[in-house]
Amino acid sequence: MVKKNTCVFISGQGSNLKNLIQQSRDYNFPINIKLVISNKKNAFGLNFAKINSIPYIIINTEIRNYENKIIYNLKKYKINFICLAGYMKIISKVFLKKYGKLIINIHPSLLPKFKGLNTFSRILKNKEKKTGCTVHYVNEKLDAGNIILQKSFYINSKDDEKILRIKTQRLEYKIFPEAIIKIFRNN
Ligand code: GRF
Repeated sequence: MVKKNTCVFISGQGSNLKNLIQQSRDYNFPINIKLVISNKKNAFGLNFAKINSIPYIIINTEIRNYENKIIYNLKKYKINFICLAGYMKIISKVFLKKYGKLIINIHPSLLPKFKGLNTFSRILKNKEKKTGCTVHYVNEKLDAGNIILQKSFYINSKDDEKILRIKTQRLEYKIFPEAIIKIFRNN
């Protein structure tokens, strides 16, 4: 199997990146992580790129046309699949036109519910019975692309935001690799 040359975009902790790096060591996992891009120079997740000798690039999104640098590097590393894993920046229309069908994102709610930020506080405020996470394709609308995979769990009355985050992320580490396998199953 020819693995997809993958770039993971991060902004923070990078625990999903860490998980995807581990999964990609499996011969049968459909992707290899060839590049990490962060829009934050102090993102903790960059450590996982460093430890694993994966090239990484820090992007200053304050600079005009910063996406040109991204596109240049995606070409340089022959990237043909992109995973957004906690990347806190909107992807532009121009970029989507070029890479749209190749970009997936993970979101910590049962989309279409609770798009955007502060998901856990809103979920609790809304007294939801269930929550979960979603892997979806990226389009020009926030957290609105076609859903690839979604998993849920019941919320316990004692769950606070911190616990919800932990439970959701535990599920994310399962669902992100499963979604990737699902995408490339027949390729
Ligand atoms: C994840 O919970 C993901 O759902 C959201 O951002 C978080 C990133 O966490 N989009 P990490 O950086 O992978 O630890």
